[in-house]
Amino acid sequence: MGKTNDMKILVLYDSIGGNTEKVAKTIHEVAVAARLDSSLIRLTAFAELDFNDYDLIFCGSPVIEWLPTPAMRSFIQSKLKEHRAKRDVLPCAPLKPGKFAVCFGTYCGAHIGVKEATPMTEWLAAFFWHIGYAVIDKLHLPGQMRRPDIDKSIERENNMEGILGNLAGRPGESDLQKVRTFTTGILRHAGALS
Ligand SMILES: Cc1cc2nc3c(=O)[nH]c(=O)nc-3n(C[C@H](O)[C@H](O)[C@H](O)COP(=O)(O)O)c2cc1C
Repeated sequence: MGKTNDMKILVLYDSIGGNTEKVAKTIHEVAVAARLDSSLIRLTAFAELDFNDYDLIFCGSPVIEWLPTPAMRSFIQSKLKEHRAKRDVLPCAPLKPGKFAVCFGTYCGAHIGVKEATPMTEWLAAFFWHIGYAVIDKLHLPGQMRRPDIDKSIERENNMEGILGNLAGRPGESDLQKVRTFTTGILRHAGALS
């Protein structure tokens, strides 16, 4: 890896069963290994942060009915209000130089594949565009479904017979290796690594 600079990185995520957390931690580890200033924050109702403090934001969620988790949605909606109140959401959404976002998530995609995940990352991306962050990429990774709220046989069917095949143990090591390669590429693309 090349020389690093002083870009501030945020990896903000929600995760119900741990899949998205694995991806978020991997992104953070790559940034830290590159000696970059990276903060890993798991979403809580009390998460206090100002997006404008960060230059490169990775924002991730599991796909829940094609969208981010309800907690992530309410957090982003409250942030949108805050940014509006400080006149940080303007017509034409002027881009802030040197400010980038990447939206990521895990999903099971049993019925329609990645089309189940793209509405989620598009939803998150729309927010970052609104506050002047250029969304430079999106990453969707298969993740084994764990749903105590539905019949075990339906859960098994979704994990074994879906359009993405057998999801047992996903995201697994080869998925995380893709995350490492992707993150290194993004760090170079955004100018965090020269
Ligand atoms: C309540 C619930 C709803 C879900 N809805 C979808 C869905 O609409 N589409 C999809 O592809 N996966 C769906 N999933 C599967 C999760 O997105 C997937 O298993 C993800 O990897 C879970 O991530 P997590 O372990 O970080 O929570 C759902 C899972 C749960 C628990």
